[in-house]
Amino acid sequence: MSKNGEIPPIADHVDQMVELYRRAIQHRRSSNVRQGKLLPWRITFDTNPDDCNLHCDMCEGFSQYSTVKAERKGLSPRRMPFELVEKVLEEFVDLHLKAPGDSTALEVIPSTMGEPLLYEHFEQMLSLIQQQDRRLKDQGLPGLRLNLTTNGTFPKLGARGWAPKVLPITSDIKISWNGATKGTQESIMRGQTFEDVLENVKVLVSERDALVKAGGHFCRLTLQLTFLEENYHEIPDIIRLAAELGINRVKGHHLWSHWKEMDGRSMKRDADAVSRWNRMIPLAEEIANANSDLTK
Ligand SMILES: C[S@@+](CC[C@H](N)C(=O)[O-])C[C@H]1O[C@@H](n2cnc3c(N)ncnc32)[C@H](O)[C@@H]1O
Ligand code: SF4
Repeated sequence: MSKNGEIPPIADHVDQMVELYRRAIQHRRSSNVRQGKLLPWRITFDTNPDDCNLHCDMCEGFSQYSTVKAERKGLSPRRMPFELVEKVLEEFVDLHLKAPGDSTALEVIPSTMGEPLLYEHFEQMLSLIQQQDRRLKDQGLPGLRLNLTTNGTFPKLGARGWAPKVLPITSDIKISWNGATKGTQESIMRGQTFEDVLENVKVLVSERDALVKAGGHFCRLTLQLTFLEENYHEIPDIIRLAAELGINRVKGHHLWSHWKEMDGRSMKRDADAVSRWNRMIPLAEEIANANSDLTK
């Protein structure tokens, strides 16, 4: 931000970024910072951005308003070769083995566009994570975890099939969620059936709890919202529902509006929407505080 509060021109912005990097590099030379502290601790692979089984209304790639399919006409769907995932992950772990120092577990995020569970090599990816996790732990490091965002439909194997494969090696599963009622959820996450995804969450929570009870790994379960005109007033009820289901966290993002059809649905679009959003927040906080013991 410039001194008068305006967003600076891109050229000035880039100059400032370059200056920040220049100072950071200079600082590193003079202060003997350990290399391990400068390594990335998380990798995101865009494994299969063109594959999904839903058509969420706000989704850049799959919405009824999306232009991605038309723009990519004649091109084959982007699907990452497994050899590339293998190579990158192995090099990532090698770097950490050469320069240990961080005390947090490393993380792998599969596709943040498209539905990751549809990646044809997803199960191979799980085995690879386990293999690289062992390499790190053998050297006394905290290991490697999956960090998953998924649409709640659990395609291919169903929630019962995926749960035992994913839960033991995952730090957090974010299930995308957009309503406390069937009407709202299904009108935003088009192609979903509310009862089915609710049942999937129940399966996931019960399998997670059984694993923890047996002395196994704790995987945090999260509902991830996109804040929209259609669902913002249901947020307190979504928090209540999440707590009752045994979900540990509710988080979300404001809408990134990709098309004019969505511009009127962002809660940041004008003063009236912002003030209605602000009036909802205390109630959401109240419900979250009242239910906090259910989510521990
Ligand atoms: C693109 S999806 C990919 C992962 C998976 N298919 C899913 O829906 O969970 C990642 C997250 O972005 C959210 N999302 C999609 N379109 C968005 C938009 N226009 N603005 C903000 N979040 C959006 C989704 O609801 C989801 O939580
Ligand atoms: S499930 Fe995810 S990738 Fe699929 S349409 Fe919805 S937001 Fe987009």
